[in-house]
This record gives sequence, C-alpha cells and structure tokens, in this order.
Amino acid sequence: MKNIAIFCSGSGSNAEKICVFFSKSKDVNVVLIATNNKKAFVIERAKKFNVPFFVFSKEDLNSFTDLQKKLTEKQVSYVVLAGFLLKIPNIMISTYPKKIINIHPSLLPKYGGKGMYGKNVHQAVLRNKEKKTGVTIHLVNEFYDKGEILFQASCSINKSDDVASLSKKVQLLEHKFYSLTIKKFVS
Ligand code: GRF
Repeated sequence: MKNIAIFCSGSGSNAEKICVFFSKSKDVNVVLIATNNKKAFVIERAKKFNVPFFVFSKEDLNSFTDLQKKLTEKQVSYVVLAGFLLKIPNIMISTYPKKIINIHPSLLPKYGGKGMYGKNVHQAVLRNKEKKTGVTIHLVNEFYDKGEILFQASCSINKSDDVASLSKKVQLLEHKFYSLTIKKFVS
C-alpha cells in the first residue's frame, strides 16, 4: 500500500477527484490533506471523505519540522500537489526526491513559473493567441514548474473561448487524467 498526502491551498476539486478515485484502491491510500489556508474549501471536502486534514503555515512549510513529523506519522510515500500555491522548500524536495507530483494548467514549459497560476495562465494563453492549451503533470524539483514531465494532454482553443471556457476545458482534462497518472506513477 502506498500512502499519499494531497497539498492544496484552495477549492480542491482535483483533491476530491483523487479521493474518490482511490477510495476503493488496494494499492493507494489518501491518508492526509494538508493546506496552508485554514479557510480553504478543500477542508470541507476532507471532512466529507473522512480524510484527516492538517493546516500549516508558510513558516511550518519552510522549516519542514512539524510537517515532516506529520508525513512520517502518516507513513506518506508520495506528496501530490493539487492547487498548492506555495513553493516547496528544498529540504522537502530532498526528503521526498522524485516523490512530489504537481499539476499545472498549461502545456509546460509554456506559461509556467512564478505568478503563473489560475486565471493568469489562461489570460496569457489567450493574449498570445495560442491554438491549443492543456494540462501538464510533472515531478517537482527546485525550480517552479521545471521538473520532469510525466504526462500532458491538450485541448484546442476556439475564437469564442475566454478565460472561463478555457478554465473549464483544462479542468476537465485535470479531472480526467490526474488520478490515472498518479496511479501509474506510484505503482
Ligand atoms: C488547477 O487548475 C491546477 O492545475 C492548479 O491549481 C488548480 C487547482 O484547482 N495547480 P482545484 O483546487 O483542484 O479546483
């Protein structure tokens, strides 16, 4: 059995999909949802699915002491970032080398890096009149959105698309492929 922890700063629609996907799995268990935002809606989702949750501060993340204790206590072997907005500190990356996975709402290396999250990504994609966009699932290293790519899927952009319609298209891809990619990677 592989135990995974999900890190999330906001709504957690991907976190929910992952919880549902693995709820009957014999190989992968979601043992913790961790957030840096005590008001994040993902906490409601954790309660709904009976997954323990843990709230920590930016300082806790950067010192990686209590958080590491928590991950060790829960025997976490993989960390899944799903809408997590803080930078993962190097100490955590070296504790979990090639074991931290992230999802990004663009076709990396395009539209990645600091400040490129949520609507900012889709706005930039539309501004540049791209013909397609998509989703990238990748490992986390010391550099924002630069780790090894595990999976990408794309969707086309029409003249009528705006930020809202693009967010929806990309979110559909995220919901469809994140859990499957996690399963493939950890097993
Ligand atoms: C997703 O678009 C993901 O690609 C990005 O943050 C968003 C999280 O959405 N990293 P949600 O909280 O899962 O709804």
